[in-house]
Parts: sequence; C-alpha cells; structure tokens
Amino acid sequence: MRRFIIFLTAILLLAVLCSGCKKKEDVIKIGIAGPMTGAQAKMGMDFRNGVTIAADEWNSRGGILGKKIEIVIGDDQADPKQAVAVANKLVNEGVAGIIGHFNSSCSIPASDVYNRAGIPMITPASTNPQLTERGYRGVFRVCGRDDQQGKVAAEFIINKLKIKRVAIIHDKTTYGQGLADEFKKNLGSAADVVYYGSITQGDKDFKTVLASIKEKKPEIIYFGGIYPETGLLVKQSREIGLNVPFMSGDGSIDPKFVEIAGEKAADGTYLTFSPDPKNIPAAKDFMGKYNAKFGEIGPYSIYAYDAINILLNAIKEAGSTDGKAVIEKLHSMEFSGALGKIRFTEKGDVTGSPYVIWITKNGKFEEYRKP
Ligand code: ALA
Repeated sequence: MRRFIIFLTAILLLAVLCSGCKKKEDVIKIGIAGPMTGAQAKMGMDFRNGVTIAADEWNSRGGILGKKIEIVIGDDQADPKQAVAVANKLVNEGVAGIIGHFNSSCSIPASDVYNRAGIPMITPASTNPQLTERGYRGVFRVCGRDDQQGKVAAEFIINKLKIKRVAIIHDKTTYGQGLADEFKKNLGSAADVVYYGSITQGDKDFKTVLASIKEKKPEIIYFGGIYPETGLLVKQSREIGLNVPFMSGDGSIDPKFVEIAGEKAADGTYLTFSPDPKNIPAAKDFMGKYNAKFGEIGPYSIYAYDAINILLNAIKEAGSTDGKAVIEKLHSMEFSGALGKIRFTEKGDVTGSPYVIWITKNGKFEEYRKP
C-alpha cells in the first residue's frame, strides 16, 4: 500500500510538472520595457497600448509558430539602474525579444544585458547615437538618432528663423545632453550660444536658471530633455516674463507637455519629430484601432506597434525564437509597418533621417509650414 501511495504521488508530481512545462512552451513571451510609473509613465503606457494592439492582432490570427504571444511588462521608471534590473528580470523570464526601453539612459545599459543573453532588442524611441555605435548585433531602433535630430533643429534656427542668439539647456541625461550638444555642434558659428547650462531631471523649480537666461537676452531657448521638465521650463519662463520661444526634441512632443506648460505658454514651441502619421496611408488602420481602444495616439505608440510587428515577423521568418536566428532575420528583412517600409542598417538604425519641424498651436502639435 505504501509503495502504491509513493507511486501515485510520483505520477501526480510528474503530471503537475509536465503541465507547467507545457504551459511554458505554449506561449512566446515578448518583454516591453519603459517607464510605466512616475513622471514619464505616459510614454510607457503609449508603448504598452501600441504593442497590445499588435499582440491581439497576432493572437487573433492564431499566434506565431503555433503559439500565443504573451507580453511581459518591465517598469524601468526612467531610471538606468532600474532598467538593468528589469532587463535581467525579463531575460530570466525567458522573453524572446524586447521592445524598449524609452530613455536612451535606460536602453544603453539594458542593452548590455540583452546582448550578453543574445536576445534582440528593438527600441521604439531611444535616439542617442551611442546605442547603436557599440557593435551589438542584436540592438535595433525604429526611430531616428540625435545627430540627425540636432542637425535638423540647428538648420531650422539658422536658415528659417534666422536667429542669432540662442540659449541651450539640457537635463544632464544621455539623451538630453547628447541632443543639446548635437544641436550646439550643428549651430557652429552661425549663431551665438549666449547661455549653455543644465537642470536636473525631477526638479520642479527652474526659475533661477531661467532668470540667468533672461539676462542674456536670447531669441530662442533650446532644451534637450523630456516633457515633464519642458512643460515646467516653458511655464516658469512665462511667469518671470521670459517670452521667447522654446525648441525641443522628440522627448517633448506629447500632450502632457501642453498640460504642464499651459496652452498659452506652450504655443509657439518648436519640436523635431518624424512626419505626422495622419498623412501616412499605412498608419490609418492602426490609428483607427488605437483611437477606438485607447484614445489619442502618443508620439511613440505607432513606433512600439511597428517594433513588435517587426520582431514577430522576424521570429516567424526564422521559424524559431532562437536569438541568433531572429537577429539575422532582423538584419536581412525589409518590413512593411504602419510607418511605411523599414529596413535596418548594419548598425541597427533605420535607413534615412526621419526628422521634420513641428510647432505647437492652440495646444496641439502640427508640422511646421513656413507662414
Ligand atoms: N528619444 C528619447 C531618448 O532617447 C526618448 O531618451
């Protein structure tokens, strides 16, 4: 009897273990990493919404390689240390690839972890050049780079606005400082940089810095940073009577910027970003679905959607989730996304510079057309 009970227990244990194994093999896990909480949570939410639409579409078609897609979310809180912890956690969970992170300061250290694990990573939004300059074969981005973005901003100020006195501030992050420096480099001697300084991400009162800038009488203020600080800088500059326009990059083009700055103060702010997806026929279907499910698309919702579709198509073509095979497919394939055709360079960047100028008008963003 005792033997029979031991035998029965062993059978039961095996059955439980096997059902666990089977369950694991039934899904393909994809990690989504970005700031899901904190001041930049809107960006994490935009990622999440974009990939959810894609995962639902794939799953409703039966999944991929006979398995359903499961999204595993990692919250890096826009903090580089947290990003590394999240990267390790996602790798340990057995994800086949990563969509993320948002901040370059998070994507760069996290990419060390993914590279070691041999897992492909596609960031929808990290624009610092260094990300794809370190020879990591599995690191890709579907957005542009700050050397392209900074150049477009500088050329606009020199050639279109014909401005001569420029103040530059950044938030000391990899992205913010990197972008401000690219902008400054591209200004060259065509304009005078009358102020160059920094603020700290997360601070709330920038009036001392703004008062120093005001004394220098700039015609425009360029900020390298993300919308929570852009919003406060613009708001507080108006409060101290500093009424010159601001210009910033992709990290600031979100309705939250207007919400923080206030509609009137935000008006006239210039931004660099890719062309309006409303004018891209391939984006129409995605935008309709997104609007119905989540409301207005965020700047990077569509990039997150394309990034996961690219990754899943590469897995499908590779016929496996083996990192090496998927990475080689990512390098060799051309993808048709909601943003149009995407092909990666040897470094993992997209071909071509996507940047155009936008302006804030009546609380909305629109592509700049010379008046
Ligand atoms: N483009 C921004 C960055 O790279 C979001 O951090």
